[in-house]
Amino acid sequence: MKQIIKLLSLSLIICLLSACNKTKETVLSSPNGKVKISFNLKNGKAYYAVAKESEIILNPSRLGFTLNEKPALEGPFEIKNTAKSSLDETWQQPWGEEVSVHNHYNELKIELQEKTGKKRLLNIVFRAFDDGIGFRYEFPEQENLKKFEITGELTEFALPDNYPGWSFPMYKSEYYEALYKKSTVGEMDTISTPLTIERPNGKYLTIHEANLTDYAALNLYPATGSPTLKTDLTPWSNGIKVYAETPFVSPWRTLIIADNLNELVNSRIMLNLNEPCKIEDTSWLRPAKYVGIWWGMHKETYSWAQGPKHGATTKNTKAYIDFAAAHHIQGVLVEGWNYGWDGDWVANGDQFSFTGNYPDYDINELVRYAAGKGVELIAHNETGGATVNYENQSDSAFALYKRLGIHTVKTGYVNRFLDKKERHSSQYGVRHYRKIIETAARYQIMVDNHEPVMPTGLQRTYPNLMTQEGVRGQEYDAWSRDGGNPPEHTTILPFTRGLAGPMDFTFGTFDFTNPVHPQTRTQTTIAKQLALYVVIYSPLQMASDLPENYVNKPAFEFIELVPVDWAKTVIVDGKIGDYVITARKDKHSEDWYVGAITDENSRNLKINFDFLEKGKKYKAKIFKDTSESDWKTNPYPVLIEEKDVDADTILDLYLAPGGGAAIRIKVIL
Ligand code: NOJ
Repeated sequence: MKQIIKLLSLSLIICLLSACNKTKETVLSSPNGKVKISFNLKNGKAYYAVAKESEIILNPSRLGFTLNEKPALEGPFEIKNTAKSSLDETWQQPWGEEVSVHNHYNELKIELQEKTGKKRLLNIVFRAFDDGIGFRYEFPEQENLKKFEITGELTEFALPDNYPGWSFPMYKSEYYEALYKKSTVGEMDTISTPLTIERPNGKYLTIHEANLTDYAALNLYPATGSPTLKTDLTPWSNGIKVYAETPFVSPWRTLIIADNLNELVNSRIMLNLNEPCKIEDTSWLRPAKYVGIWWGMHKETYSWAQGPKHGATTKNTKAYIDFAAAHHIQGVLVEGWNYGWDGDWVANGDQFSFTGNYPDYDINELVRYAAGKGVELIAHNETGGATVNYENQSDSAFALYKRLGIHTVKTGYVNRFLDKKERHSSQYGVRHYRKIIETAARYQIMVDNHEPVMPTGLQRTYPNLMTQEGVRGQEYDAWSRDGGNPPEHTTILPFTRGLAGPMDFTFGTFDFTNPVHPQTRTQTTIAKQLALYVVIYSPLQMASDLPENYVNKPAFEFIELVPVDWAKTVIVDGKIGDYVITARKDKHSEDWYVGAITDENSRNLKINFDFLEKGKKYKAKIFKDTSESDWKTNPYPVLIEEKDVDADTILDLYLAPGGGAAIRIKVIL
């Protein structure tokens, strides 16, 4: 019965459309015909609706804007013109979860004009893909709309039912460093995207945005009494959301409409809706693993500031370089190497120097020493949120790094507000981050950005934006008062924050003791730490523990082996919040890697190896929990065993509570 009602309302939406406009195209189908977007004017107000086959994905949902000191741009409109086009192309990523990206869509542009008043123009461009949709607003150049200030975006996502999803309160957390909770959409606070929602029958819907350029980040909140999500844009401190001048475009609003987790993770809608690569020569972009003078600060054995515990000394850095060189690790991050850390650096971010090294850190000697060993330093640029100070120095700093052969910076913005005033995800923040990415690109510098605005696929255009934080990462396992990241956290991330792009989570804990905060620790087994290198994607991956904790640990071999750049990604199995099995094919060989992780519950899993190439023989090296392993009582035991496998293999695997398994599958024939 429910199905029939749904079908009826679907046809109602479509016939409403054709009735409202006989000549102009207002319905758009995806290339395979399954996803449909329909545009409709109701009393002159603009609505869109989305369906996949017989399922309503979104009921008619509002479009439009409110503006400061100007009438809202919300109709009554009339359709002046519509235009359809299509694209079917494949482009190559310099790095990623897969090499070739298929960009196949049909497009419909609806050109609207106000029927009365200033007769202002607004276009809405829809793209229908087989796995979802994207749409954005265009504000064409026009006499009656030049400079304007957006006070609200009226875009809605009218879900047909109060589905459950995974989210955290956007304004009650900082830098998106929060734990995702499952609740119905109607119970959600104002949340950030990506928002992943569970549709009936184990299907998914993810709402996010693509190409966030000179605009404010998208957040969502539920309308009272209905499962409709409304748009909230992160404001400037004066309440304005976006300063704009025509011609102007909004970011794309995106929906991934996936039948399963593998489709969800392999959707490339967000990347496809970003501009093609603006960096001509990408040969200097190098996905890498790194170690760093970092965990010691978070565990309070080292300090960033000068003094007896100063971590960034020449001697200490040389030891990290030696370790990296001996273990096929390309990068060494050093935090606390530059002036600005002494005293309250969060309050005094404008005192940071990005070129002046502390006297016990001989930067020239260190780059020489590192180069001799085939290792590169990664410069840390903590700004304390003082973006003006950083922008003033970024050219000279990046020029210095380039001259020294440093090709990666880790940026950071620890402060509630940027420049004591503006939010990280506001248009102010978005402008700053872009400026740094573009400046870095000019000096051939790769960026690992912490405390970012939520990623939206800009790495397609600027692939020097390698990875970002914007996630509650491993540092919480050093000092968080709530005890650290609970075991389920990483089983949720690939399907929520992970859909926004690479995450610099920084796993690699091998020592689970925590003398300073004994109630806090990494809540996994060692085998799960290894598996995370496959499950959580980033082209820069850290082995975050102190090198001495890796010495004589056979399990460290997996961290040495695991690649950071992939030809292909498959979600073999999983349930958000419970467990995940991810398989990835190495970009530079025929080898595959598998990571399987579980939440706080132990689990017996069956891994079907049918992702392997039929007819080929492989040797699997498995790093797994033993029956003794348990994140709480005994995280250390790892069993390493070898097995012949092929595409017909089904492997039984035991995962301990908070445990996991990591597998290297090497082709032999
Ligand atoms: C927060 C970053 O996430 C962390 O990695 C860094 O060590 C500190 N800020 C200091 O910059």
